[in-house]
Amino acid sequence: MMFGDWLDIGPVTQIEAGTARTLPVQGGEEIAVFHTMRGEFFALVNACPHRKGPLSQGIVHGDVVTCPLHNWTISLRSGNALGSDEGCVPSIPLKVDAGRIYLKRSAVVAPRAGPAGTGARAA
Ligand code: FES
Repeated sequence: MMFGDWLDIGPVTQIEAGTARTLPVQGGEEIAVFHTMRGEFFALVNACPHRKGPLSQGIVHGDVVTCPLHNWTISLRSGNALGSDEGCVPSIPLKVDAGRIYLKRSAVVAPRAGPAGTGARAA
């Protein structure tokens, strides 16, 4: 099945509710894909805006994750730090279709990451 700019990263069942899985990105930043207790899915770059703590290892509550390092709370919807903390981590557009998770390809393989296999490669 083709979804244009959407990248199939697997079935929704691979991520238990209330947890996250990481997705390594060749030539880019690791992504954390979250499954909330409400059954929603979100994807953020797996680096806290404070000091790059691994958000995938944080505690998910509602649509927020608490960073495991210094307890900043980050909105899963926007990637923004909440409360009195300031900062933002890129969020990756995500959709669920027929039980599978799709990420926006252009956001995963961002131009800022340099050559990451989006075009033809010299052998
Ligand atoms: S690295 Fe996330 S709160 Fe410090």
